[in-house]
Amino acid sequence: MSKGTYTFTTPIYYVNAAPHLGTAYTTIAADTVARYQRMNGYDVGFVTGMDEHGQKVADTAAGKGMTPQEWCDSMEPAFRDTWDLLNITYTDFVRTSSERQTRTVQKFWNDLYEKGYLYKGSYEGWYCVHEETYYAESDLEKNEDGEFVCPDCKRPVQLMASGEENWFFKLSEFQQPLLDFYESHPDFIRPETRRNEIVTFVEGGLKDLSISRSTFDWGVPLPFDEGHVAYVWADALLAYFTGIGYADPEREGEFETRWPMQYHFVGKDITRFHCVIWPAMLLAAGLEPAHTVFGHGFLLTKGEKMSKSKGNALSPQDMVRVFGVDAYRYYFMSDVQFGHDGSISMERMVQVYNNELANTWGNLVNRVFNMTKKYFGGIVPAVNPDLAGGPMKESNPLRDIVDGLYAEYDRCMSEVDFTGAVAAVQKLAQAANLYVDEMAPWALAKGCKSEVDAERVEAGAKLSAVMFNLLEAIRIIALYLAPLAPNTSAEVWRRLELGAPVDVTDIEAATAWGQLPVGNHVEVGDPLFPRLDVDELDLDAE
Ligand code: MSP
Repeated sequence: MSKGTYTFTTPIYYVNAAPHLGTAYTTIAADTVARYQRMNGYDVGFVTGMDEHGQKVADTAAGKGMTPQEWCDSMEPAFRDTWDLLNITYTDFVRTSSERQTRTVQKFWNDLYEKGYLYKGSYEGWYCVHEETYYAESDLEKNEDGEFVCPDCKRPVQLMASGEENWFFKLSEFQQPLLDFYESHPDFIRPETRRNEIVTFVEGGLKDLSISRSTFDWGVPLPFDEGHVAYVWADALLAYFTGIGYADPEREGEFETRWPMQYHFVGKDITRFHCVIWPAMLLAAGLEPAHTVFGHGFLLTKGEKMSKSKGNALSPQDMVRVFGVDAYRYYFMSDVQFGHDGSISMERMVQVYNNELANTWGNLVNRVFNMTKKYFGGIVPAVNPDLAGGPMKESNPLRDIVDGLYAEYDRCMSEVDFTGAVAAVQKLAQAANLYVDEMAPWALAKGCKSEVDAERVEAGAKLSAVMFNLLEAIRIIALYLAPLAPNTSAEVWRRLELGAPVDVTDIEAATAWGQLPVGNHVEVGDPLFPRLDVDELDLDAE
């Protein structure tokens, strides 16, 4: 039985560039949550998509001699294919140029219009088309030619002159309600540093927000003034609603079961939109904001934010080719603490791969499966409780770790501390490798050939118990690693003649000690993670 719904989103990505490691990072994190919470018994909603409207897209399409719609359509496979390659299990992919998104946007803003939160006025000020963001003059920087440039992307900004009438949302009225909301919902903005930034920003006062444009038409027309299209952010944020069935007659009732959702996962550069504008829109509509906006850090190469426009972005395709999907996912979830910035280097990736995946996890599976083949003909041995049970049962360090593991792992995963969750599982894998060394099955196997009956019987019983414990630990580790490294976990379960980890819907029960069926065939197979040599990588690390 389902424990209820567990719903979250990635940003709705701009279509101007194919996914790179930065955008894939959020998506992999969300997928790790999706896979875990499904195994934990929840009915998962995982929304991602493409942010297609606005001036930037209209300009890019024109430059390519295409209509904006044609240009966006041509970009969809780049996203869908990359997410498929990375084994991303989203439940909805929302395109903001879709008809259902138009319905959402029109319904929502019409509601706010009717509630009196919108008025027509003229905006005079600065706008960065690349960032699709308004800036106060005091926030701008100047370039060598003395032009005002965007503080984020450093491109020249445009002056939006009066004369263009816009619709404004009364954001300024929400300063106090937002501060009250942050106060009463301490988990709304995480991590803490981002929360402090946002509170300080809002305490500084809020200006009303221009939410429409009339100088171009690539956007959703506002139903109460068709000459205006919604500002990209006033459109894209609402894709989170479209993805859970808002204003969708075919998905009646779903929105109510999923809203307010658990998480919006976003990069720290867009927390302001998600922690100020978005909750103010929701409060105006009489809806509660999501439980948590989690603003993660940036992936950096050589100390700089990795981005397509800086030309320092690696492609997910390259990473998969060199490391394989599972190691790629595992590395970003374990080595870069979610919430902090993380520097990426090939050396470090290879080091983590070799230490944690090749030498610890892969090697454990390889050693134990080979020994099972050698000593038991590849069959999971029965443990004789009378002979081996006493001493072996009392001193089973693997079981001791397993008994406390679910609570720790679940706490970490629920707080999206992937590094902590992986560390907890790695402790078990390391303990299992140590257990092999300490119990020395090869010595026990020799004892099985002893001339002395009692010695022979005892060695045999111990060997069965040791091998059972190791195989059982492997079964459990594979389950806990499945949200991060789904392919290899599925492969380990297959080699143990078990079902598929993705079919598990109660991971707490499934990881309780002692469930590996005696008599199952164990297939040795190829090493899961062949060691890598950084000097021989087929990848340009720039
Ligand atoms: N379209 C908006 C989001 C609208 S959500 C309603 C947008 N799109 S984006 O394509 O620019 O996606 C940006 C997301 O990718 C942000 O969360 C951003 O922080 C993240 N990243 C882009 N480069 C990144 C790194 N180098 N490292 C980590 N994440 C980065 O903004």
